[in-house]
Amino acid sequence: MFSTGLLKNRIILITGGATGLGRSMAFKFGSLGASIGIMSRNEQRLSGTVEDLRKAGINATFHVADVRKPEEIHTAVDALENELGQFNTLINNAAGNFISPMEYLSPNAVDSILGIVLHGTFYCTLDLGKRWIERKSGGTVLNIVTTYATTGSAYVAPSAAAKGGVLALTRSLAAEWAKYGIRHVAIAPGAFPTEGAWTRLAPTKDLSDRMLDRIPFKRFGTHDELTDLATFLISDGASFVNGEAVTIDGGESIANAAQFGFLSNLREQDWNTIRELTRKPRG
Ligand code: HXC
Ligand code: NAP
Repeated sequence: MFSTGLLKNRIILITGGATGLGRSMAFKFGSLGASIGIMSRNEQRLSGTVEDLRKAGINATFHVADVRKPEEIHTAVDALENELGQFNTLINNAAGNFISPMEYLSPNAVDSILGIVLHGTFYCTLDLGKRWIERKSGGTVLNIVTTYATTGSAYVAPSAAAKGGVLALTRSLAAEWAKYGIRHVAIAPGAFPTEGAWTRLAPTKDLSDRMLDRIPFKRFGTHDELTDLATFLISDGASFVNGEAVTIDGGESIANAAQFGFLSNLREQDWNTIRELTRKPRG
């Protein structure tokens, strides 16, 4: 779908790039010529992914950092840039989340999710943004949000509030930092199975099946589908796309928001009856 070397001039920082969708983006961007720096808390997972990326011929390295700690981010970016060269693309992908009724949460649980998702995204954007403004280099930021960033969602209130904040940040800086040549885009994914998300959001087969049932295609998204969209959005092909969040959910949000979506459960014989009942009476 993309020409070889599409991202050959890109040096990309992916937060949370050792696992799940971040890892898949690292492979996709790397296979198109980008150099990849990944950053998160677990050193073992980071080094394993970097080893795999290098085996695939991708220039990659890692640094441990907690995105809730601005000084750790700064040190990590310095070290990664020493090895890879100066970043020109940032993927704010790191996240924390779990399903829970709000009333079961402690203040620390709320802080944990707001800290990783909202503050972490702010701190990484601030760190790289300041470098890009000083260097007059421009840059591209892709924020991974969720479909419920715009609607909110029961049972994941801290994540919804944090992702909503990240969406507002995306739109705010799209307007404010365009003058520095810094472009902001976002992706709002629906359901893409990863170990990190499924262990915390769909920990039983029943819950996973119920998530599947909401999707009109009756299948989850594949990582390739997501990473293709991410590639387009960060590429120069999307250079006039700024402040936009693209939903990729197989139609799940639209299908479930619409008033008559529940009719998809009706059978042919139900429709035959309904047709008779709803036709204008003759004579
Ligand atoms: C209630 C919980 C909890 C749970 C943790 N806590 N899990 N409370 N139910 N299931 C509470 C803890 O008791 C603690 O509060 C506080 O939250 C912080 O927990 P820690 O484990 O100390 O924090 P930390 O080590 O920072 O872990 C952060 C985490 C964890 C978010 C809790 O799950 C994590 O590391 N997640 C990273 C990966 C992830 O979440 N991936 C999924 C992303 S999917 P107290 O008061 O006891 O100290 C996504 C979108 C999916 O974002 C969209 C739909 C498909
Ligand atoms: P994942 O594999 O659990 O990815 C989350 C990553 O964030 C992990 O690599 C984790 O690494 C890192 N992370 C968490 N806390 C961190 C911290 N404090 N500092 C640095 N890194 C931290 O889950 P995923 O499903 O791939 O999610 C990736 C992104 O997609 C997230 O933004 C998520 O909200 C979004 N999303 C996913 C789905 C889906 O269906 N999978 C749907 C909508 C949106 P460490 O634990 O090692 O730090």
